[in-house]
Amino acid sequence: MPESPDTLAKPGRYSGVAVALHWLVAIGIIYNLWRGLGFDDLESAHPDQIRAAVDLHKSIGITVIGLVVLRVLWKVGHRAPAPMPSLKPWERKLSVGTHHLLYLLMALVPLAGWLHDSAWKGAASHPLVLFGVVPWFRLPLFGGLNDAGKDFWHGLFAGVHTFSAYALIGLLALHIAGALKHQFIDGQAQFRRMWFGK
Ligand code: HEM
Ligand code: HEM
Repeated sequence: MPESPDTLAKPGRYSGVAVALHWLVAIGIIYNLWRGLGFDDLESAHPDQIRAAVDLHKSIGITVIGLVVLRVLWKVGHRAPAPMPSLKPWERKLSVGTHHLLYLLMALVPLAGWLHDSAWKGAASHPLVLFGVVPWFRLPLFGGLNDAGKDFWHGLFAGVHTFSAYALIGLLALHIAGALKHQFIDGQAQFRRMWFGK
């Protein structure tokens, strides 16, 4: 795909599309982590709100899957800026490794949630409607199973969803700590790389 000058990454800077996708995905994931970890408290304090909260969580999560697909396609077609020259070799390796694992978990966490929801035996009586507007589909993998079979996969993917979400939290802590260190301790223009501007 030919690249127009305004979509190319500027030296030392991600392109506007990469920046927009980075922050949209980040907001969706951080909101869903916060909301997901608070489901039990919400259910005890406001049981009438839990259904709507879980539905919103699913809508945001499915949207994140779409944005991650766009982000990966964009990445394949557009080179990222070269790493900051000030990085020591071990910092460069750690940041590249963290970014690869982040990509993996950005996809795995919501996919496991969608699989968990698709295997739910109550799925047929609770249609998935994104943001209450767009009817959406469950993954058609579990339709032929009896309730015990669905329960098995529902539980298994709940475990994968939770475990991968915790791994994502750990990785995000490392990612954010790295960004803060380069910006404020090393005095480099780190945040500028992942923000809009000329
Ligand atoms: C859920 C939240 C987040 C996710 C999943 C995420 C993921 C990623 C990924 C995968 C990259 C690599 C981009 C590439 O090379 O293709 C990246 C870069 C970056 N992220 Fe995040 N990020 C998140 C939140 C944040 C936050 C809160 C900050 C700020 C504190 C931040 C700052 C940055 C910066 C500055 C870069 C550019 C790194 C470089 O210099 O190459 N990110 N992020
Ligand atoms: C941005 C992506 C997502 C993140 C970061 C995320 C995160 C979480 C977290 C942290 C929990 C709480 C886990 C626990 O305490 O055991 C949770 C629960 C849940 N998530 Fe997600 N999720 C995402 C996407 C999805 C998607 C796409 C769906 C389904 C379409 C989904 C369905 C659920 C359900 C049904 C629960 C409640 C599980 C239960 O306790 O029965 N999630 N999620």
